[in-house]
Amino acid sequence: MKAVVFKGRMEVVVEEVPDARIEQPTDAVVRITSAAICGSDLHMYDGRTAALPGTVLGHEPLGVVEEVGPAVEKVRPGDRVVMPFNISCGRCFNCARGYTAACLTVNPSAHGGAYGYVGMGPYRGGQAERLRVPFADTNCLPLPGVPGDDLEDDFVLLADVFPTGCFGADLAAVEPGMSVAVFGAGPVGLLAAYAAQLRGANEVYVVDYVPDRLQRAEAIGATAIDFTRGDPVEQIIAIRRARQGDLGADMGLADKMMGVMCGVEAVGFQAVDWEHPQDEKPNRVIEDLIRLVNPTGHIGIVGLYVPEDPGGINPHAKKGEIQISFGKLWEKGISFGTGQTPVLRYGPRLRDLVASGQARPSFVVTHRMPLEAAPDAYAKLARREEGYAKVILKPGG
Ligand SMILES: NC(=O)c1ccc[n+]([C@@H]2O[C@H](COP(=O)([O-])OP(=O)(O)OC[C@H]3O[C@@H](n4cnc5c(N)ncnc54)[C@H](O)[C@@H]3O)[C@@H](O)[C@H]2O)c1
Ligand SMILES: [Zn+2]
Ligand SMILES: [Zn+2]
Repeated sequence: MKAVVFKGRMEVVVEEVPDARIEQPTDAVVRITSAAICGSDLHMYDGRTAALPGTVLGHEPLGVVEEVGPAVEKVRPGDRVVMPFNISCGRCFNCARGYTAACLTVNPSAHGGAYGYVGMGPYRGGQAERLRVPFADTNCLPLPGVPGDDLEDDFVLLADVFPTGCFGADLAAVEPGMSVAVFGAGPVGLLAAYAAQLRGANEVYVVDYVPDRLQRAEAIGATAIDFTRGDPVEQIIAIRRARQGDLGADMGLADKMMGVMCGVEAVGFQAVDWEHPQDEKPNRVIEDLIRLVNPTGHIGIVGLYVPEDPGGINPHAKKGEIQISFGKLWEKGISFGTGQTPVLRYGPRLRDLVASGQARPSFVVTHRMPLEAAPDAYAKLARREEGYAKVILKPGG
């Protein structure tokens, strides 16, 4: 079968690899009809992780079950399914509590498994014609409809980025009426903003510098903040001050509350330094959020940080040591949450929200391409080329 294979820094190829097959009685093999490329894949593509050449990429797959092992009970050949990017057993101490991103049994070298991702176990990715799905009854989320229908782009986003946007909003404790700032207008940031709106946020700001991405944020009714125009924290505070009258009487009493209550980090360790946009600054966004979030507020850090970054800008960054103003965070009594999304926790609810027409996350999808176009798509996404945000590969054309 054909698959997208990581060859080294800035190089992926589409080549023949051994067919996916049933290896355990609890496995299924799924024929992939859509596989999205993620910002997380780009950290590997950029050579900024310990990913080894030969890795078959792709952790956002959707398709049709072709074959199941003898111990699979629920999933049947012919079922249309999307796979959460986490591979989980569904039964261990962490899975049983809903923390499927930290499954204790699927990855011999760490907690948590995923398809085609560095450090996440021996599993091949889904940017391929077929995918082996372990513990198929747990890791296949059944979908209504037929391959290639109107909801295919929405459903494939259930593998990762729509749940991750919701996880960011959860970690940031977004509730009806809250003020929210999302840093990063990639697919994850845009869907965190969307999730905040679904949860009834009063104001949503989205910070980035890619014009097309900021326009998408405006299109869903968020306020776009372009950091090339200056400190994004000052920009948001200035807008809130100017709107003070509309924001409710209490705000007038509290100049100390001109930041936001909820902050989402959807950028990751390769953050651009807005003071010097040609440079990276791994603590840039977290520091901005500590300045921006009000006392007693919450920060959700879903952007990725790694314990090993070969291209880190200094010896600390190479070891994933990010310097943050912890004293300021403590003084403000801000809580924060981090980590990989436990996708399974969100899957069924978000699927039903999409199926009933109440959510259309596919507004982040910019391109659909054959699998063979992966090298070109990765190169364009890595450059954050204007107009490219979420690319969906279509194995089999
Ligand atoms: N927690 C999880 O389980 C999970 C799941 C999916 C993705 N992720 C991570 O989320 C992050 C975002 O993913 P994506 O697919 O949207 O990636 P992306 O690369 O498409 O988007 C990141 C955006 O951040 C912007 N940016 C860079 N520096 C910035 C700054 N200082 N302030 C504001 N914006 C800035 C970039 O211009 C870009 O548009 C990545 O780090 C990805 O690995 C985490
Ligand atoms: Zn992803
Ligand atoms: Zn488990």
